[in-house]
Amino acid sequence: MDGNGRWAELRGLPRSEGHKRGVERVSEITRAACGLGIKTLSLYAFSLENWNRPESEISVIMNLLETFLINDLDNFMKESIRFRMIGNRDKLSAHIRDLIEHVEKTTEANARLVVHCALSYGGRDEIIRAVRKLLQADTPIEEITEERLACLMDTAGAPDPDLIIRTSGEQRLSNFLLWQSAYSEFLFTSTLWPDFTREEFLEAIYQYQMRDRRFGKVKDGKIQCS
Ligand code: FPP
Repeated sequence: MDGNGRWAELRGLPRSEGHKRGVERVSEITRAACGLGIKTLSLYAFSLENWNRPESEISVIMNLLETFLINDLDNFMKESIRFRMIGNRDKLSAHIRDLIEHVEKTTEANARLVVHCALSYGGRDEIIRAVRKLLQADTPIEEITEERLACLMDTAGAPDPDLIIRTSGEQRLSNFLLWQSAYSEFLFTSTLWPDFTREEFLEAIYQYQMRDRRFGKVKDGKIQCS
């Protein structure tokens, strides 16, 4: 969800206005995902690297997150949306951590859509934390498999992402779902996140449906020889 700051700066507004508008888009895109029957939506809200931003901006984002969690809980229950945080909880304040745990617990049984909110998240950090769990459990070397590691990721039990959309024109992954994105499709749009509407989301899904995913195999399982 990139481009909140630029969206605001282009309008001569404080960056916080971009983040506020960004939260509105979160609600809109979540609704659209529900309507499309998408089962998992992962939102990259705050990276581990984002902790290096000015204290004042971090505080704006954390306050917006708090308001979002409090205000949207009813909607999560009404729409049967399960909320799950992925990321490193150690750096979050106890207050935000407790609130996240409360929303996770309350929405645990909801099954229409799972929203993964990546907060204080880094893909490399997630892999390191998973490897540490393997070692702590004295896992025998031959039992270290892709499946076993996947079960120790924050996304355990969720499918790998089919499509990763990055807004704002940047064409990089920025430490997002490094393990899980091995065979994901990517879509980069120059639209800034606060301008990313339901219509553009639907267009992105349509584009995705035209992709030819082979997962390293040849088309239709046929052997093509020249
Ligand atoms: C990227 O834009 C956006 C962020 C680092 C924060 C995103 C946060 C929200 C949308 C609000 C909180 C999230 C939820 C789920 C309620 P940027 O600031 O990097 O923009 P720039 O690259 O133009 O400076």
